[in-house]
Amino acid sequence: MKDILKFLREARIGYLLFTSLIVLGVIFGAFEIIDQTLLKDIPPETMRWLYFSRGALAALLLMIWAAWTVYNYREYYEDQLQATKLRYSDIIEHSAEAIISLDTEGRITSWNRGAEQMLGWHRDEIIGESINLIVPDKLIELEELEHIDAEIQRRGYIQNFETERLTKKGEKKLVNLTESYVRNKDNETVGRSLILRDLTDVKMREEQIQQSERLATVGHMAAGVAHEVGNPLTAISSLVQVCQRKTNDEFIQDQLKKVREHIQRINKIVRELVDFSRPSSMQTEHVQINEVIKSAVGLLKHDARCRDVNFKLNLADNLPSITCVPDQIHQVLVNLLLNAVDAMKETAKPKITIFTLKQQNNIKLTVADVGKGIREENQPRIFEPFFTTKDVGRGTGLGLSVSHGIINKMGGAIHAESEYGKGTTFIIKLPIKTEE
Ligand SMILES: Nc1ncnc2c1ncn2[C@@H]1O[C@H](COP(=O)(O)OP(=O)(O)OP(=O)(O)O)[C@@H](O)[C@H]1O
Ligand SMILES: [Mg+2]
Repeated sequence: MKDILKFLREARIGYLLFTSLIVLGVIFGAFEIIDQTLLKDIPPETMRWLYFSRGALAALLLMIWAAWTVYNYREYYEDQLQATKLRYSDIIEHSAEAIISLDTEGRITSWNRGAEQMLGWHRDEIIGESINLIVPDKLIELEELEHIDAEIQRRGYIQNFETERLTKKGEKKLVNLTESYVRNKDNETVGRSLILRDLTDVKMREEQIQQSERLATVGHMAAGVAHEVGNPLTAISSLVQVCQRKTNDEFIQDQLKKVREHIQRINKIVRELVDFSRPSSMQTEHVQINEVIKSAVGLLKHDARCRDVNFKLNLADNLPSITCVPDQIHQVLVNLLLNAVDAMKETAKPKITIFTLKQQNNIKLTVADVGKGIREENQPRIFEPFFTTKDVGRGTGLGLSVSHGIINKMGGAIHAESEYGKGTTFIIKLPIKTEE
C-alpha cells in the first residue's frame, strides 16, 4: 500500500486529478446538452436510468483514463531507471580501476574490465571463486584480510590501503585498496565492494623522480669538484710538458709520457663531469633520429671491439624530427652501444638491435643487446655517476649518468630492462616538439 501511494505521488497525482476533472466536465457537459436538446419528452423513469448510466459511464471512463496515465508513467520511470542502471554499469565497466563485488561469503560476484586488465583473469574464470585467490599467501598468513574486516566493521569502509594482490600469472601487483559493505534497502549487509588502483606506474615515477633528484645533487657536487681539479691538472700537464722538453733521458721521457696519459684520462673524466651538470649552451637543431643512429653505428663499425657485432636496425619511416643538440644525442647512442658491446664480450653471437617508433607525442628508441645483463641489485644504480662494474681503467661509470642528464634536459626519459645472463634493453622516449 505504502509503495502504491508513493508511486502515485511520484506519478503526479495533481496532474491526474486535474485531467480527471476535465474528463468529468466534458462527459457531464455533453450529457447536459443531449438532455436539453434531444431528450425533452422522455418519461422520468427512463431519465433516471439515463442519469444512472451517465454516472456509471463517467466512472468507467475515469478509471480507464487513470489506469492509462499510471501505466504511462510507470513505463516512463522504468525507462529512466534502466537508463540510470546502464549509465552506472558503463562507468563501472570502463573504469581503469578494478571494481569487484563479493557476496557475504567472500566469493566474487562481479569483475569489471579494469579487473580483467589489471589482474589477468577473465570474469568467466573467476566469478564464484573466493577473493583469497588474488591475495598473496604471505598476506593471508599475516591475517591482512582479518585486519581489513575489522577496519570495515569499525568504520564501515577502508580507504587507500596500500597492499599487494596477485595476477593470474602469480605476479605481485602493488595496489591501493578501497573496500566497503554493500547493503540492501533494509540496511542488511549483502556483500562487499572492492576498488583496486594499480600503483606500479605511480611508484615507478616516484622512484624516477627520486633518482633524478639524487643525480642532480651528485651532479652539482661533482661539477664543483671537477672544476677545482681542472685547474691544478692543467698546471701539472704544462709542467710535465716542460720537463719532457728539458730532458733527453729515455727512461724519464717514457715515465713522463705515462704521466701525461694518466693526466689525459683524468681530464676526460673531468670534462664529462662538467658536461654532465652544465646547463647546455650548445645550439639545438631539428634532428632526424634515424640519421644519428646510422651515423653512430657507422662510426662503431670501424672500431676493433665491434668487429663481430651484428647491428640490426629496425627504424620506422617518416619519423618527425626532434629538437636537440645533435652531438649530445650522438654521444648518448655511442655510450649505449659501447656498453652493449662491452656486455657481449663473452657472447658467442653478439647482436645489437635498434628500434625506432613513433608513440603519441614521443619517439621511442630502444637499444637491445644479448649480453650478460645487469644483476638485479645493480639495476637501480646504473645511472649513478661513477657506478661501474668494469675493471679500474676500463670504465669510469659516467657514460650512463651523462646520457641520463642529456635525455632529461631534452624532456625525455631513459630506463633499462635487463635479465641477468640474457641481455639488456635501454628504452628512450624523446618528445616530439611540434612547430609553434
Ligand atoms: N648493456 C649493458 N649490459 C650490461 N650492463 C650494462 C649495460 N649498460 C650498462 N651496464 C652496467 O652499468 C654500468 C654503468 O654504465 P656506464 O656506461 O655509466 O659506465 P661504464 O660503461 O662502466 O663506464 P664509462 O661508460 O664511463 O666508460 C656498467 O659498468 C655496467 O655494469
Ligand atoms: Mg659506458
